[in-house]
Amino acid sequence: MPKKITIIGAGNVGATLTQRLAEKEWGDVVMVDVPQTQDMPAGKALDISQAGLVYGYDTRVTGTTEYGPTANSDIVVITAGIPRKPGMSRDDLLNTNAGIVKSVSEQVAKHSPNAVVIVVSNPLDAMAYVALKTTGFPRQRVLGMAGVLDSARMARFLAEALNVSVEDIQPTVLGGHGDTMVPLVRYTTVAGVPVTELLPKEKLDAIVQRTRDGGAEIVRLLKTGSAYYAPSASVVAMVESIVKDKKRILPCAAYLEGEYDSRGVFLGVPVKLGAKGVEEIVPLRLTAEEQSELKKSADSVKDLIETMRRSGVIG
Ligand code: NAI
Ligand code: 2OP
Repeated sequence: MPKKITIIGAGNVGATLTQRLAEKEWGDVVMVDVPQTQDMPAGKALDISQAGLVYGYDTRVTGTTEYGPTANSDIVVITAGIPRKPGMSRDDLLNTNAGIVKSVSEQVAKHSPNAVVIVVSNPLDAMAYVALKTTGFPRQRVLGMAGVLDSARMARFLAEALNVSVEDIQPTVLGGHGDTMVPLVRYTTVAGVPVTELLPKEKLDAIVQRTRDGGAEIVRLLKTGSAYYAPSASVVAMVESIVKDKKRILPCAAYLEGEYDSRGVFLGVPVKLGAKGVEEIVPLRLTAEEQSELKKSADSVKDLIETMRRSGVIG
């Protein structure tokens, strides 16, 4: 059955995602931005629709500054917010984006009360928390995109180091989407072979660090904003698993209630993703060192939540 997918924020990630989803023909796509952007979302939507003949799709794409056309969406992706500029960390976006994500989440709850919500805005894990608390949706229906992107980056770096196809790499990255992210080489394989048997420790350590810095590396190169081609592709993988009820196990930011020894916080963990959203948080057996890195990551997300609480953005 065709689905209705709303993308909030018609900027770099939102518009590229809209284009990718239009090409998939999984359902109608509605892209929303603020009234100050006037006809920009409508213009981008029209442009994307007009590639239909050439690319072979009939997807209905709407661009708007109102929430009426988003009513009863099955999936809502929140990309609204400001991106990083060189020298900024994702956490520097906290207060501005928390206000934005709070206001759009209120609209989502009002217009699409049964949607599965995928948050993209940064700082990711904290913004997913704002969306969860503001919509009041169950935790199964609010998740964040970061792990698919971070894993894709690690896979690309490994493929280059090993001179193999990226398609034969099965990467695993857990933790928050920030400096404390936890790329897990022990659970990363190449055609079934642990990558620890294929590359020396120093090389793997360098790839882990480059993965952690993956977003900043692109910000430094672009200078005017942050990555959007790989981020939008990563959201498509999550949307596909939900739309087709594929039950793929993908690294996503999920709200933890005791899993991985964490509670009351969003963190990147392997998630079984189906029509209902998060159907299971898949456990991995971690070493004491890996568990301690994950705790550090959870603590840094908790600090952001505390900052938002102190500033009154969330209750
Ligand atoms: P962008 O600046 O190109 O687009 C953001 C859009 O959001 C703008 O069009 C803006 O008008 C819109 N917007 C602002 N307030 C809004 C509101 N209240 N309602 C609706 N739309 C609103 O930024 P870009 O590159 O698309 O990034 C968007 C966000 O996604 C940033 O916070 C960025 O850091 C984050 N991001 C996260 C990634 C992840 O892995 N989780 C990857 C890439 C980006
Ligand atoms: C990234 O990792 C900006 O968080 C985004 O590229």
